Amino acid sequence: MKTMKRLLLTGGMGYIGSHTSVYLLEQNYEVVIYDNLLNSNEETLKVIQNICPNKKVHFVNGDIDDKKKLEETLRNFKIEAVIHFAGLKSVKESSEIPLEYYQVNISGTITLLSAMQSCNIKTIIFSSSATVYGSPEYLPIDEKHKTGAINPYGRCKLYIEEILQDLSNADSEWKVCVLRYFNPAGSHPSGMLGEDPKQPPANLMPIIAQVANQERSKLEIFGCNFNTNDGTGIRDYIHVVDLAMGHIAAIENIKKLSNYEIINLGTGEGYSVLQMIQAYEQVSDKKINFSFSDRRLGDTGACFADATKARQILNWQCQYGLLDMCKHSWNYKQNKTNG
Ligand code: NAD
Ligand code: WQD
Repeated sequence: MKTMKRLLLTGGMGYIGSHTSVYLLEQNYEVVIYDNLLNSNEETLKVIQNICPNKKVHFVNGDIDDKKKLEETLRNFKIEAVIHFAGLKSVKESSEIPLEYYQVNISGTITLLSAMQSCNIKTIIFSSSATVYGSPEYLPIDEKHKTGAINPYGRCKLYIEEILQDLSNADSEWKVCVLRYFNPAGSHPSGMLGEDPKQPPANLMPIIAQVANQERSKLEIFGCNFNTNDGTGIRDYIHVVDLAMGHIAAIENIKKLSNYEIINLGTGEGYSVLQMIQAYEQVSDKKINFSFSDRRLGDTGACFADATKARQILNWQCQYGLLDMCKHSWNYKQNKTNG
């Protein structure tokens, strides 16, 4: 079966979208990035182009809430499928400004879906999150684990999943693949591309990178008495390049999948905060200062994926390990610092 080649990546200038763009271009996909640059920079386009000098990446500066612009873009570039990364992603901020989250993430997605429908484009891969599992009832977490969001960000992901399911139930021409990412980390191995948000980072690895680079005096470890090997939180960190490859596997296999499919993207292995610090110290040869503070609201002890389904139905598995993630993150940090 022929793979779809002309893809629209909403939010394709962001952390995960930019890495996915690079690997799609390398595999001769035609990539159109649609992004309003709310949490990304136009410079990223040049970086993508530099990594892939013989390929052309297209960019449209647009909002997912702009149906007319979306329809024009979908038609002009004869798009066959959409990978939908765009949205707001801070858990903390989502509790402070929930309406903005519902507006951008939910209303924006509905606008995107109706633009796609009116252009008769009915294939979508959606960036969901392990956050939809709430507090794990068992480990590793497979796709059958019950869902239950505990913050507006997680609720957005769950509602969007349900909207997509309703759509695929109503019209069997829709092909929907929901990818539930665990904890994306690391950067492009070249050190040229990485996580470059406008907002200060809230995730563990970019904060560790700042401490290693002396932009921050120390890491605050949220909680030291979880029921884990060393008392700190355990997560399933997945290299952003493996995540990018997961999207390519999804696109390549989407015609074979049922018309609504949910797939975890994780490594299946968990590491604690202290293990992360130790690995980062090893690759950077820097001391990571830390202190312990209270648990963060809503944090769970351990969370890692059962990634069997992705391996079986997408023929995908991770190539990179923890030290690669730390090394590539550190390469990028040093490159940014040294210009
Ligand atoms: P990111 O913020 O780096 O990228 C999102 C991109 O979307 C940005 O370039 C931003 O400018 C763009 N955007 C935001 N609002 C937009 C709008 N209204 N119209 C057009 N573009 C808009 O985030 P990321 O880490 O690359 O995450 C991508 C997706 O994956 C998000 O949906 C996020 O919720 C999901 N996700 C991320 C993680 C993670 O830890 N990074 C984990 C699980 C799921
Ligand atoms: C990892 C571990 C923290 C920062 C979040 C979202 C999730 C998804 C990925 C979008 C935990 C500890 C962290 C710090 C710390 N995003 N930590 N000090 O919370 O697993 O997942 O990002 O979809 O939805 O909830 O990731 O990187 O914030 O935390 O001790 O300064 O590091 O307690 O154990 P999390 P994280």
